[in-house]
Amino acid sequence: MIEDGASTAAIEQAARLLAGGEVVAFPTETVYGLGADAGSDGAVAKIFAAKGRPSDHPLIVHVADASGVAAFASEVPAFAHKLVEAFWPGPLTLILHRRDGIAAAAAGGQASIGLRCPAHPVAHALLLACAQATPPVAGLAAPSANKFGRVSPTTAGHVAAEFGEELLVLDGGPCRVGIESTIVDCTRGVPVLLRPGVLTREQVEAACGEALRSPDDMDGQAPRASGTLESHYAPNARVRLMDAKSLQTALDVLGPDAKQIATYSRAILRTRSDKVLRRRMPDDAQETARQLFAVLREFDAQGVGLIWVETPPDEPEWEGVRDRLQRAAAG
Ligand code: TXA
Ligand code: MG
Repeated sequence: MIEDGASTAAIEQAARLLAGGEVVAFPTETVYGLGADAGSDGAVAKIFAAKGRPSDHPLIVHVADASGVAAFASEVPAFAHKLVEAFWPGPLTLILHRRDGIAAAAAGGQASIGLRCPAHPVAHALLLACAQATPPVAGLAAPSANKFGRVSPTTAGHVAAEFGEELLVLDGGPCRVGIESTIVDCTRGVPVLLRPGVLTREQVEAACGEALRSPDDMDGQAPRASGTLESHYAPNARVRLMDAKSLQTALDVLGPDAKQIATYSRAILRTRSDKVLRRRMPDDAQETARQLFAVLREFDAQGVGLIWVETPPDEPEWEGVRDRLQRAAAG
């Protein structure tokens, strides 16, 4: 791990490795990514191998700025340009028609490509250094830097814990957003929300001037997206979502032989059991997103068998957090 991931030496070392076809982990504002040259099928294969991810699951390609759209995509609709204009750099990934013959392995063989321009100074410096490297690297394919199906990492320590010493990790501090980017499919004539994030539907719709559809509206032809598999983002402990009242009732009836349990709730819960670890969920959706994955990892590290979570409010700004918790509970 390189602690000062923003230093010129760190960025140059990482860019050199990436230009040589190696894999490097780097911070983004959402979660840490496991990056490789999107234009090299061999480098991309190393990501799939390290993650243990099936190689037909497409990866997001990270670009330094909006010029990356023309480099990797074709037939870009006007509403997609508006989204780029409004949210890049930032936590929004667009699925676009892939340019012929480009980044086929990164796209998992699909005719489309996921593109995102991250808003993190280390990611940005790295992408610029990669563009200037020999040979130049125009984009970094990077899934979240976790093993397949596990919780995404929001600190460099999370990445190191999962992949060990051999992987170069640029430390850029804890991620500001904390859950993965919003994904909008722009290949079907209308925008389709594949994965909610911290941007609300209202924000996305206002920016592109179109109603956001959901994959269910699209006659079951939703593309394969591992982030949309039910049991994604699962910690080792079993997660259950409940309203505050059910949570309190469940605590009230805990027997003396209960396993270690953790609770994560906005409501203040009462318990006399010493088996229960209580943690407050912030009242603010963005603050909750920021800490969510680290909290789940801490519970795992403390060896709890069950995590009882208060269902987040049914409000637009909570959609991304609700989505991740529902998937964790399905695991
Ligand atoms: O915030 C993020 O998006 C983070 C950071 C590192 O940028 N990346 C991330 O990558 O979450 P990953 O691979 O864990 O999730 C990417 C999601 C997957 O569900 C993948 O299937 C979907 O994006 N995806 C990528 N390219 C796609 C494509 N061409 N068509 C449909 N889905 C695609
Ligand atoms: Mg992931």
